Amino acid sequence: MLTHHIDDHLNLRLIDMRYADAVYQLLDANRPHLRPWFEWVDDTQSADDYRAFIKQSRQRFALGDRLPLIAFWDDQPIGSVGIRANHAHHTASIGYWLGAQWQGRGIMTRSCQFLIDWAVSAWDSQRIEIRAAAHNIRSRAIPERLGFTHEATLHHAHWLHGRPHDFVIYAHFPTHHS
Ligand SMILES: CC(C)(COP(=O)(O)OP(=O)(O)OC[C@H]1O[C@@H](n2cnc3c(N)ncnc32)[C@H](O)[C@@H]1OP(=O)(O)O)[C@@H](O)C(=O)NCCC(=O)NCCS
Repeated sequence: MLTHHIDDHLNLRLIDMRYADAVYQLLDANRPHLRPWFEWVDDTQSADDYRAFIKQSRQRFALGDRLPLIAFWDDQPIGSVGIRANHAHHTASIGYWLGAQWQGRGIMTRSCQFLIDWAVSAWDSQRIEIRAAAHNIRSRAIPERLGFTHEATLHHAHWLHGRPHDFVIYAHFPTHHS
């Protein structure tokens, strides 16, 4: 099993069917917290729905273009973080969510730092992106804290719950080539 220890308590594990019920419970308990940012929350109405997501994630992992992880505090699942690659262009993109009660401790910032380092060494990523709805202040704070460049705000680029929202793109460049 693939487990990355970030500190004594925080560890990141490859998503796995054995976590399906516990992560679904976490997700279900956090609907009001997650729903504003992800359309898929409403589409995930059972542990079986979440199992379908795990199956798809593992297929992408097996193809080598995604690292889908569950964040644990000791043995308790607390959120999800993953990175997907575009190998042709040596780029990668990070996505994440945490249970509301686990916010405010730097868990996701540290998890993203791990994924950045991992993508550089495993995939030779030369551009790592984080995208967020422009009004998602907590999410935007993560790339800002990690020193990413705010490259663009795309107006009406993100459709959420029946209306368009502005979308921000942050990028990190591990090495600089002119
Ligand atoms: C986005 C989300 C993961 C951010 O969570 P978060 O707790 O704010 O982020 P972190 O885990 O990096 O924690 C940062 C906070 O911990 C503090 N912190 C403590 N120790 C820290 C450390 N070692 N390193 C960095 N920050 C630390 C920071 O000061 C910051 O505090 P603040 O909340 O007072 O500003 C969370 O709000 C979430 O799940 N939202 C809903 C889903 C979502 O929007 N996903 C992203 C869609 S694009």
